[in-house]
Amino acid sequence: ARIVVLVSGSGTNLQALLDAIAAEGVSAYGAKVVAVGADRDGIAGLERAERAGLPTFVCRVKDHADRAAWDRALTEATAAHQPDLVVSAGFMKILGAEFLARYGDRIVNTHPALLPSFPGAHGVRDALAYGAKVTGCTVHFVDDGVDTGPVIAQGAVEIRDEDDESALHERIKEVERKLLVEVVGRLARHGYRIEGRKVLIP
Ligand code: GRF
Repeated sequence: ARIVVLVSGSGTNLQALLDAIAAEGVSAYGAKVVAVGADRDGIAGLERAERAGLPTFVCRVKDHADRAAWDRALTEATAAHQPDLVVSAGFMKILGAEFLARYGDRIVNTHPALLPSFPGAHGVRDALAYGAKVTGCTVHFVDDGVDTGPVIAQGAVEIRDEDDESALHERIKEVERKLLVEVVGRLARHGYRIEGRKVLIP
């Protein structure tokens, strides 16, 4: 399978995918990253892609007349690399209608909380502020809501009394990277069906 990864930040989830594919080999892993896209420049995620010799593209909302034009540009830039799957790995923008129409049921996102708890941009902070004792990460398909698509896999992480947002996020990300690598490989190697809210991987 061909994968386009979308990033907005440090790109450690991207790096975990790249490392796993390099270690296992493309055919054993079942997928390769063919390009990396971002909604901003100057981020470590893009540097990681460049270091791996991958093509990159940047689509910034502010360079477009409106959100719909940005959505169209991101869709076209992604489509140029003909992905089978799109992985949103810390991509901090809501994907638009055109992108979803084109890649619906083929976009995998990772979220740093146990959905449906704590969706949105501050999943780690919100779990901590709530006083939850367990949180984690969710790898799911993207639909037209915010972190509402069918769940593929989840990993739990205990919240410690001394945790602050960054310490907790770091522990979540350790679990998240492994889970994402495992899930993307399984989807690529085995294929999948989505029945209602259930994701079935044969
Ligand atoms: C991940 O925890 C992701 O779920 C969240 O942002 C983080 C991205 O980390 N939305 P990285 O850029 O892959 O290091």
